[in-house]
Amino acid sequence: MVQVKNICCIGAGYVGGPTCTVIAQMCPEVTVTVVDINEERIRAWNSDQLPIYEPGLQDVVDFCRGKNLFFSTNINEAIKKADIIFISVNTPTKTFGMGKGRAADLKYVEACARQIADVADGYKIVVEKSTVPVRAAEIIRRIFKTSTKPNLSFQVLSNPEFLAEGTAIENLKNPDRILIGGDETPAGQNAIAALSEVYEHWVPKSKIITTNTWSSELSKLAANAFLAQRISSINSISALCEVTGADVGEVAHAIGTDQRIGRPFLQASIGFGGSCFQKDILNLIYICETLSLHEVALYWQQVLDINEYQRRRFASRIVNCLFNTVADKKIALLGFAFKKDTGDTRESSSIYVCKYLMDEGAHLAVYDPKVKKEQIIRDLSHPAISGDNPERVSELVTITSEPYAACENTHALVICTEWDLFKDLDYERIYGKMLKPAFIFDGRRVLDNLHKRLQQIGFQVETIGKKVNPVSSLVYRAASKPACQEQDPTPAKKVKI
Ligand code: NAI
Repeated sequence: MVQVKNICCIGAGYVGGPTCTVIAQMCPEVTVTVVDINEERIRAWNSDQLPIYEPGLQDVVDFCRGKNLFFSTNINEAIKKADIIFISVNTPTKTFGMGKGRAADLKYVEACARQIADVADGYKIVVEKSTVPVRAAEIIRRIFKTSTKPNLSFQVLSNPEFLAEGTAIENLKNPDRILIGGDETPAGQNAIAALSEVYEHWVPKSKIITTNTWSSELSKLAANAFLAQRISSINSISALCEVTGADVGEVAHAIGTDQRIGRPFLQASIGFGGSCFQKDILNLIYICETLSLHEVALYWQQVLDINEYQRRRFASRIVNCLFNTVADKKIALLGFAFKKDTGDTRESSSIYVCKYLMDEGAHLAVYDPKVKKEQIIRDLSHPAISGDNPERVSELVTITSEPYAACENTHALVICTEWDLFKDLDYERIYGKMLKPAFIFDGRRVLDNLHKRLQQIGFQVETIGKKVNPVSSLVYRAASKPACQEQDPTPAKKVKI
């Protein structure tokens, strides 16, 4: 079995950077080089201003960088020296051509495979760390097989990453499991053993799961689909809670104590974001469609539809509460990152809430503790968000460097990210700065324990999955049917609860 002395990671992003930093810390005798084509990113990794915010990351980087951890743009040199090469590049949803808006774009993975085939000599273990469609390893293997270099030999493994942004270092140091998929041949099993040994420096062997390549690739897509499905499931129940007087927090607690259901990921909100869930489910749907598994595709599509519904529903509720118009009204939006403890805004629900409010003509004052002003403007100016009128963003949006300034002269305060600091704001001070009636819309239920106090201050509080002002009566109407079917003539029943 190969003795691993050098690891190269292609892609210095949210996965490649933290993952290899932790490997370097846990394997001091292994030299780890993280490479990227993006010079600015590599410069940032070599500075005190790391390109991504992740709690605990700076300490680990400071501990290893320059000893056995290096960040470089010299990709060829790192490939040549490496025993193991991780491919951790982005695999975004395709924006053009066949599979547009659904399939994963594998051009960056393919470019890495071609570069490795061009540059490498001897025996290499190439590891898919990126999330890819099932059977993507076949593409990499075929590219290597076409190489005419007599002494190039390789094994391709799948080793998907399960870290969550915001808790990446903790997840990497104490993973629930490490998954390694590879060829069932002796050579494949040897490669699996070599990679497994790297992880065994700090992960108990019992947590290292080995499978065939395809099970490993598919497990990553399935894991993200299941996690997102839980969020959409509780969000669908939150809509029902808001009209019935049930409280989704209480429902989540009650059902989560059932061991068969479990507690995590039952937090109702304005929907999931981040670079992975939507992209990976779209990819799963695309795979199912291309394999004629239409019912399966439709099933997972619904998880995405509920997410979109939840964002829209929240924005509509803001408009409805503000007397059916937000045109020219000023609204403070707290939190722009897709979740707390990260500066990542990819697919953040905040972006969509901003879009719907901008579409209604609202003026927004946005504050986030970790997202840079330029990033917020860039996200909101994207054609999918601001249409063909990006100037609208500079007219309607201001970015503030602290939360109190955002609330100045606003009709409403909208919480879109669950940053802990939002629980400890001085809400009396905020109330004093706002126009009356002053509304709070809590899209993350971070103020759950403060509702009474906020109401005493004078706020009208609106939150996901709960009617803070009691529901007095409930109207059950005949369920609406698809337009092509005749309407059910049963009259609406009024039920007192
Ligand atoms: P990212 O966009 O932050 O980083 C990818 C990096 O790869 C970029 O810096 C880019 O410049 C670089 N790159 C692209 N092509 C390259 C090439 N040919 N040579 C050298 N560098 C190249 O992406 P992120 O978030 O790190 O994701 C990477 C993969 O990991 C994706 O497949 C993603 O689905 C998966 N993943 C992401 C997680 C997350 O929380 N962000 C969690 C688990 C998996």
